[in-house]
Amino acid sequence: MNEQRATNVVWHDHKVERKEREQLLKQKGVILWFTGLSGSGKSTVANEVAYKLQEMGKLAYILDGDNIRHGLNKDLGFSPEARKENIRRISEVANLFADAGLITLTAFISPYAKDRNFCRKLAREGRFLEVYTKASLETCEKRDPKGMYKKARAGEIKDFTGINAPYEEPENPEIIIDTDNETVDESADKVIKKLEDLGLIKR
Ligand code: ADX
Repeated sequence: MNEQRATNVVWHDHKVERKEREQLLKQKGVILWFTGLSGSGKSTVANEVAYKLQEMGKLAYILDGDNIRHGLNKDLGFSPEARKENIRRISEVANLFADAGLITLTAFISPYAKDRNFCRKLAREGRFLEVYTKASLETCEKRDPKGMYKKARAGEIKDFTGINAPYEEPENPEIIIDTDNETVDESADKVIKKLEDLGLIKR
């Protein structure tokens, strides 16, 4: 999947580049990569961050696992290879969005460190922030917003992350949000503050 098949293809530079788009938008293009168990709060917090950014006049966009798997990645399942391809495609898309100057939030379980690091390497230096959305399996199972854990425990879903498929915790995430103990508002503020501290957005 990784090799480039087309050979007679030459990279084309454009007259308007990222820097100009960023000046126009008065923000820096960045990827906020939310990772965590299903039900840990990735989409919920990403949504709140996007809402707060919108209120601040910043342009943000969310790429969400549950939605992307209905379109771009509807051909992919949940084997390690399929998840790798899921994350590879999302990484490329997220990188394009960040290049367009958008604050790009991705909400995928992305259980494998290697796959997440693919995106980190693809992104510009300092423009990839891993947001570890941390919640205990117990909490996620209790929340079970889509009834998936119940089904997984009953053996109706195989390879379910946390139950019968692994989740590799991030080793050095730029941001950790502890959704067992923080409110959605607190977690979202933490992410916004990090963007400000790094000079990626200004009020
Ligand atoms: S990832 O592992 O490839 O990053 P992704 O975030 O796209 O996963 O999709 C996860 C969502 O798909 C979960 O929130 C859940 O609703 C659904 N899902 C269905 N089957 C599985 C499974 N076997 N493991 C994890 N999530 C699953």
